[in-house]
Amino acid sequence: MNVGIIGAGHIGSALAVRLVSLGHSVYIANSRGPETLKDVAQKTGAKPVTAQEAARHGEIIVVTIPLKNIPDLPKDLFAGVAANVPVIDTSNYYPILRDGQIPELETGDLTESEWVQQHLGRPLVKVFNNIHADHLQNKGLPANAPGRISLPVAGDDAAAKQKVMALVEELGFDVVDDGSLHESWRQQPGTPCYGADLPADKLREHFTSLGTRRTEAQHAEYLANHAKQEQAMAAQGDDLK
Ligand SMILES: NC(=O)c1ccc[n+]([C@@H]2O[C@H](COP(=O)([O-])OP(=O)(O)OC[C@H]3O[C@@H](n4cnc5c(N)ncnc54)[C@H](OP(=O)(O)O)[C@@H]3O)[C@@H](O)[C@H]2O)c1
Repeated sequence: MNVGIIGAGHIGSALAVRLVSLGHSVYIANSRGPETLKDVAQKTGAKPVTAQEAARHGEIIVVTIPLKNIPDLPKDLFAGVAANVPVIDTSNYYPILRDGQIPELETGDLTESEWVQQHLGRPLVKVFNNIHADHLQNKGLPANAPGRISLPVAGDDAAAKQKVMALVEELGFDVVDDGSLHESWRQQPGTPCYGADLPADKLREHFTSLGTRRTEAQHAEYLANHAKQEQAMAAQGDDLK
């Protein structure tokens, strides 16, 4: 399969390494142009291209750039891309360390991927946001292996979600359906499944106990948890470089 990856940092590179090793053709882009991606190409085996080229080559497209940079993506990013090509969003909101405050995410009117979807104007499938890049690259296991990590997948387009779920399985992770993009708050920063590398049964238990409609109390709790995580990262000098 051809996969287009927009963003060549931690997650984009980790995915590229794994996808190339599985025999897929990966087209990868950043903001500065393909000529700046020689090292990434050497390390991953992906082909450096522009963001529009990555989108046009992809049978699946992954957008994996900092949330604050989403509005900078080219307006014609998906021109000529068939409507049935799934677009994956890996975004997380880091208001303190990186993104600044985004009103709709502070109020909880939108989930993080709904905000991205509004900017991109394409239905999105959310996955790979709650696992560390290093674990994504190195902790995939064959189906039924003990200790296999599960990843939540959320989105509104059933066919796109199915294609993405098959890819997640192929990368070595169990899949847990996290419902619609509006319900994807359950896999956002500050929630019990964020960065927790849970097996599928535990992840399903969390989703059942959380429910589907985010309450104001849940929103406040997860924002506060994440603010503490960000403050701890800042104290350790980890600025998400
Ligand atoms: N790091 C993790 O472990 C992790 C885990 C799960 C989810 N996430 C989330 O996934 C997203 C990406 O994270 P990351 O850690 O991979 O980021 P990163 O290492 O900071 O890399 C960001 C990449 O995005 C590119 N980029 C920025 N603006 C762009 C634009 N307008 N057009 C095209 N490319 C652009 C950058 O290219 P230039 O260098 O040319 O600007 C760079 O290649 C974030 O939302 C993050 O919160 C991260």
